[in-house]
Amino acid sequence: MTQLAGKVALVTGGARGIGRGIALALAEAGADVAIAEVERVASAAQQYRDAALGGFTLAQQTVREITALGRKAIAVQADVARRADTLRMVHDTVDELGGLDVLVCNAGVVSVSPVASLTEEAWDLTMAVNVKGVFLSCQAAIPELAKRRGASIINIASVAGKNGFPGVAHYCASKFAVVGFTSSLAKELAAAGIRVNAICPGILRTQMWEYLAEAMGDSGESKEETWQRYVKGLIPLGRPQTPQDIGQLAVYLAAAENVTGQAINVDGGIELH
Ligand SMILES: NC(=O)c1ccc[n+]([C@@H]2O[C@H](COP(=O)([O-])OP(=O)(O)OC[C@H]3O[C@@H](n4cnc5c(N)ncnc54)[C@H](O)[C@@H]3O)[C@@H](O)[C@H]2O)c1
Repeated sequence: MTQLAGKVALVTGGARGIGRGIALALAEAGADVAIAEVERVASAAQQYRDAALGGFTLAQQTVREITALGRKAIAVQADVARRADTLRMVHDTVDELGGLDVLVCNAGVVSVSPVASLTEEAWDLTMAVNVKGVFLSCQAAIPELAKRRGASIINIASVAGKNGFPGVAHYCASKFAVVGFTSSLAKELAAAGIRVNAICPGILRTQMWEYLAEAMGDSGESKEETWQRYVKGLIPLGRPQTPQDIGQLAVYLAAAENVTGQAINVDGGIELH
């Protein structure tokens, strides 16, 4: 498939999980791809306290997978919550890959806590990465996207951006914010010919869900049992989503010239609006 031949994409948090799936799908469709990644999230909040995240090393591995497909690819070290980093990730992409046509704001963090005991730090980290990170990444990319015909932004929200879930109110708040930001920005950038859409994934067993299955287990329940309870209880089509499922929609949105302002679920029917 060469639907995106000649296009350049930048995927934040693209080292692993959903971001990696999107990066590979865009490359398979013909795009050259830059991946922006942090080595470690600078926070003491919950599971990020000691955890090594995707990391720059993993981003370089994903870059090798993309170049093996015959596309150009680079990894840029960038924390999307820092303005200077987002400016640099766009600069390096344009400098090394020749422009920017598709920005995918995928980097995100999650943590589980009832509101009654949620720390201010966990709230701040969630908003800094999931909301401010999307704002800063879009703001940095807009001048470059405006130079290209058919450019677009794809923000990764969640079904948690369409409905509430107990224990993750702060995460839901951040994803509702991404959906609202996406629809506003779509109207704002339409005159410049830049389309802005969101993808709302359902449940994928990425590193994020490895943590969630542990954190949301009932007492005496194994991690596997918790995972199955959520998959069977929530997904009408009966199977979890995959990074390939999300990548498929990202390729469509990157090419769909008359689609903007949408927040599309890829969730096996969890949310029907
Ligand atoms: N896994 C799911 O079930 C699910 C469902 C709906 C939405 N999502 C969303 O999809 C996106 C990807 O999630 P995932 O499941 O692949 O999780 P993941 O934890 O496997 O991947 C997230 C990636 O983002 C990177 N990252 C985190 N903070 C960053 C920062 N400040 N700057 C740059 N990169 C950063 C991490 O290093 C990691 O590579 C997130 O926005 C998440 O909220 C996930």
